[in-house]
Amino acid sequence: MVEKINQLKQYVSEQLSTDTTGHDYTHIQRVADLAKTISKKTEQSDLLIVLSASYLHDVIDDKLVDDTYGKQKEVQSKLKELDYTSEQIDEVMDIITHMSYSANLKHHYELTINGQIVQDADRLDAIGAIGVARAMYFGGHFGDTIYDPAQMPRNDMDKSQYREHTTVINHFYEKLFKLPDLMNTSVAKQMADRRSQYMHDFVREFKDEWQGIH
Ligand code: ADP
Ligand code: NI
Repeated sequence: MVEKINQLKQYVSEQLSTDTTGHDYTHIQRVADLAKTISKKTEQSDLLIVLSASYLHDVIDDKLVDDTYGKQKEVQSKLKELDYTSEQIDEVMDIITHMSYSANLKHHYELTINGQIVQDADRLDAIGAIGVARAMYFGGHFGDTIYDPAQMPRNDMDKSQYREHTTVINHFYEKLFKLPDLMNTSVAKQMADRRSQYMHDFVREFKDEWQGIH
């Protein structure tokens, strides 16, 4: 298992080495570490699947690559080359193509327990202090406004509406504050509640300062 994972790490770090949207290799490493922690505390999880999907989860993301279908084929060949069984390849592909927030806006995909763990880990890295930093960094990359009180957060978006950004502060209401209730595992839910508390404090303080309250 160690050899397979090391090969995947190498592959993924080459793929994401130029990312400046908050999906760089350090995000991937944090997700893999969180997923490992959750996996150890969750019965019936398979660490090879959990780690493989964690490392690969952003390589095929349509906001980062243009030819997602081509990338999926490339990832499948990579796994085959590393002697993953076809069942293992199918599960990893199923997880990484269905776990994203945007894929689940209008339809909820049932992931395997391994997929639920990776999804929780990815979502944990979107919230808390790191979540605040990543959201601001992402907004800066796309030239988004930080805050505009005249623009209200949106509800019930489909994927293309979700991809049209409003403001970074709206992103907290449109996604980040919703994540704790969407956690699959109880381990992640506990961590998410703590991180979420911190984010709510941040946004409250931000708005107070904006209004000159203190
Ligand atoms: P997924 O890949 O699960 O669909 P997203 O594409 O929404 O998730 O985003 C991954 C991370 O990118 C988010 O957790 C957040 O940090 C950042 N992000 C996405 N959209 C925005 C946005 N409109 N404003 C600020 N940050 C964003
Ligand atoms: Ni991710």
